[in-house]
Amino acid sequence: MTLTGKKIVLGVTGSIAAYKAVELVRELTKAGASVRVVMTEAAQRFVAPLTFATLCRQAVLTDHTAWEAEMPHLGAAQEADLVLIAPATADIIAKFAHGIADDLLSTLFLACTRPVILAPAMDADMYRHPAVQDNLARLRSWGVRIIEPATGELASGVWGPGRLTECVEIVQAVAETLCPARDLSNEVVLITAGPTREPLDPVRYLSTRSSGKMGYALATEAAARGARTILVSGPSALSPPAGVECIRVETALQMREAVLDRLAEATVIIKAAAVSDYRPAHPAESKLAKCDGLLTLDLTPNPDILQEIGAHKDRRIVVGFAAETGELIPRARHKLSAKHLDLIVANDVSQKDAGFGSDNNQVILLDSTGGVEPLPLLPKREVARRILNRVVALRHTTGHSA
Ligand code: PMT
Repeated sequence: MTLTGKKIVLGVTGSIAAYKAVELVRELTKAGASVRVVMTEAAQRFVAPLTFATLCRQAVLTDHTAWEAEMPHLGAAQEADLVLIAPATADIIAKFAHGIADDLLSTLFLACTRPVILAPAMDADMYRHPAVQDNLARLRSWGVRIIEPATGELASGVWGPGRLTECVEIVQAVAETLCPARDLSNEVVLITAGPTREPLDPVRYLSTRSSGKMGYALATEAAARGARTILVSGPSALSPPAGVECIRVETALQMREAVLDRLAEATVIIKAAAVSDYRPAHPAESKLAKCDGLLTLDLTPNPDILQEIGAHKDRRIVVGFAAETGELIPRARHKLSAKHLDLIVANDVSQKDAGFGSDNNQVILLDSTGGVEPLPLLPKREVARRILNRVVALRHTTGHSA
């Protein structure tokens, strides 16, 4: 992996892990990147600017030296291909999340239009604090990539999450962002996302709790890795990712029709949509009058789109999801075999801060050879990366060219 020609602004903040940023600079420059370091006042209490200036062979920007230059925050932000903050303290995370610009680094963040990656480092209780977690969630929703800290013994002697993750993982994340593997460039990936809406009358409908975030993250990642990406989306507030063909539908029947229409050209199918299993048997032409007492609905089953696709797989790779609230693995494994899937993504949708509507998800990947891979709670974009990594691996093992 090479970062030759890439310009990285590395923000170093006032954490004891600041010393690890020295190794990070060495690894990034070894990979060919040009690194410009921006240090906060607090960071300079842990590591001297001269250390970084020597390794980077260029002046370090600090609040003190910066103002000798003209608008240094703009220059650094505009010349960068990527801004990396490692370590990222709770303070800088809060400043970024709330648009505070009272020093060079926080001002640079607001002026930055390039990808931003944060690698938090702090004590475990601080990292778990709702204020920090809310700030991280807000930054993720803006597309900032957060590299989860490692769990281990911290400077305070406490054991828990908060250690700056290993440099090799940070460099890997930088490379994935700046030079995404085009390992899906031979694939046509058809993804379904979001809920469906099953009309009861012109005013009311039955639906599911899906926001579309999981499916849209998959579409974003597939497109970034070179796939021709078709997204069939139920109603969602999300905007279609750039470079993705988006087909909007409302009902399960419309979703089925859209998927079957494009099935012939698809080489990979990923069904992340929460499709209603039933629809009102007799939707009313006009609004149903409100009545006292119980209202009984006759519901008729919707077609199982995934079942239909799995039965006619050909050389396609078919990935399904399982949304459960209990007996996750047995139920997911049953769907994996009953629907002839290559991979199923099992998630417990009753889990807090995961599943429906959340920016994060915690899934278990089960494949048709019996493999079981539990993943930790991750941002949905990272979950999407892991799922597509498995798709790439499946393509290699099936031997079929797309
Ligand atoms: O959209 P988000 O807010 O980000 O939430 C993400 C999610 C929770 C919706 C997602 O992670 C998820 O679990 N999606 C699948 C939800 C679902 O319908 O699971 P299921 O176990 O009911 O269905 C199993 C599989 O069959 C799914 O791949 C589903 O797309 C498919 N299916 C289900 C019913 C049906 N009639 N046709 C189908 O194709």
